[in-house]
Amino acid sequence: MLLQGISVALLLASTACASWDGNLNYRSPSINHDGLGINLRKVHKRMLTKRDGSMPQQTGQLNFTHGVASGDPWDTSVILWTRVSPQYENDRSNVTVEGNVPLFNHETERYIQMSASPICVDWQVTKTPDMSGAPAASGKAYTTSDIDYTIKIEATGLNPFTTYYYQFTVCGTQTSSPIGRTKTSPTDDDSSTPLSFAVFSCSNYPNGYFNAYGNAARKDNFDYAIHLGDYIYETAKGNLTVDPRAANPQKEIVTLYDYRTRIAQYRSDLDLSLIHQQHPFITVWDDHEIANNNFRDGSSSMNNTEQSFNKFGGISFDTRKMNAVRAYFEWMPLRQADLDDNLRIWRSFKMGKLVDLIMLDTRSYDRSITGLNWNDDYIYEISNDAGRSLMGSRQENWFYNSLLESKERGATWRVIGNQIVFSRINSTSTQDEGEETFPFNIDQWDGYTGNRNRTFKHLYDNMIGNNIMLAGDSHQNWVSDMIWVGEENYDSATGAGSIGVEFAGTAVSSSGSGGNLSSNIHGSELIVRDNQELQWQEGYYRGYYEMHIDAEKIEARFFGSPSVATRNPYEVSLANFTVYSGENHLARPVAGGVAASGAIQQGEVVMTNLTLNTETGEWGYQAAEYNQMFIAYPTS
Ligand SMILES: [Fe+2]
Repeated sequence: MLLQGISVALLLASTACASWDGNLNYRSPSINHDGLGINLRKVHKRMLTKRDGSMPQQTGQLNFTHGVASGDPWDTSVILWTRVSPQYENDRSNVTVEGNVPLFNHETERYIQMSASPICVDWQVTKTPDMSGAPAASGKAYTTSDIDYTIKIEATGLNPFTTYYYQFTVCGTQTSSPIGRTKTSPTDDDSSTPLSFAVFSCSNYPNGYFNAYGNAARKDNFDYAIHLGDYIYETAKGNLTVDPRAANPQKEIVTLYDYRTRIAQYRSDLDLSLIHQQHPFITVWDDHEIANNNFRDGSSSMNNTEQSFNKFGGISFDTRKMNAVRAYFEWMPLRQADLDDNLRIWRSFKMGKLVDLIMLDTRSYDRSITGLNWNDDYIYEISNDAGRSLMGSRQENWFYNSLLESKERGATWRVIGNQIVFSRINSTSTQDEGEETFPFNIDQWDGYTGNRNRTFKHLYDNMIGNNIMLAGDSHQNWVSDMIWVGEENYDSATGAGSIGVEFAGTAVSSSGSGGNLSSNIHGSELIVRDNQELQWQEGYYRGYYEMHIDAEKIEARFFGSPSVATRNPYEVSLANFTVYSGENHLARPVAGGVAASGAIQQGEVVMTNLTLNTETGEWGYQAAEYNQMFIAYPTS
């Protein structure tokens, strides 16, 4: 009898723990050890003792303020996200590290005025769009102001490559989140299921509307979204009292509150909200999730110097980076790859036997110093230095091992989600006469040729083929055969000598090369002329691309928004590419010999204002009203 009683008590205790542990944000991106993350027992106790003297949360005041999102699909589980709060505002605590508080600690209880009492939600996953029928998974989770009222859970026990619907409800109430849709990945040995992805990068809220997200979501023609970074921008733009999309807070962000507020503002966007509700995301950060041109120890505006420390009100780069990373993990539907490694976002996904998706962090994890304006001469000088790395040795070795393991397990395609343009790009033609700059962009792989050479050598030494490199960051479209310049002969006409293909995409809304359509086309012609492996280049349109993958081929379809100055549903089909398995280069004629903008090596560019209305599905001609690409701000 006594034993039975103990068993019941243990069962109750473990159930309670499971609920508390259910919200991964109490652990990520911090720790895997008792006492280093937030003390969940202490949070739990707050519900019982009301230690701050406040009443428990009034459930009638709670709202799901920022919709729902899902991400990091595995074959039997997926991450589900929401935020439930008595306030729209973000938690105001700026304390990340003080005194002997552990790195990336989530505790803010000591520093806040809000009720510390936890909020309880039930969540459910079903196969039916209206949430009817027996749940495929369900559970309970809690949140508090410590983690900005975010909730991130892993729904487990699911079936592979299956569409699911999910919803959160405040415990004991009818207050529910919107219903989200998500999808698991195929099992590791599934070689027959075709897969499709939409690939995004560089979404700048004040710069333009997120029409690319809205168009892709409305067309609903892909399984999973990949975001290669610059999901938010840290810089100031516009005046909040005048400009509808001015950046909030109205300053360059540095504190935890700043980063939470900025990412929350982005997540209030209707098009971003829609695509998150409909599709699982796989994300990595680029530089602007933290700060422009950041590397391991600094960024262009904050060089880890006393001067920058004083300029930013007594915040060091390390603390700023921690604030940014903490807010990112709270707000994004991603798994933490390694609970003992706060900064690790690089991870991989087995998407059936068809695709191994390898997501890199070429920015923040362990990158050698990059161009920061004041040091550009020096960085150009050392860009061939073999000791330089974009990833650090731990990640580099993991990257090369992942490529080899992928080949050995017989995966058809290796898709590498990376931030910056991989191919060598001679951009001399883009420079103004008399301008003293460099022929290459030292902030891209061109500034780290040792790392690129090691990558090529590994691919050739191990005869690893079917490599597809993805990139964002540049705000323009670059489609290239992957060639090892100076080591392997290459025939631009046929593609022979290439070991893969790079698809580097334009921005959702960040600024491109400037100018109008014709000046952009002229610029593209020059840059294509100077780079034989660069088969298509385009810098005018904002947008995204889709990849449709099966065992025989990959089709990449590039789409452009004619304007992000307004919220509109129009898009232009820019160019389509095919890569056949085993060929390791773009199929000829590249893009079928015709693109709607930019320049291609062989073929012609035929400009069009034929657009698809993604709301109605109708094609039509949109003309003069779309001669302004970006939101205009007064120059003063
Ligand atoms: Fe960007």
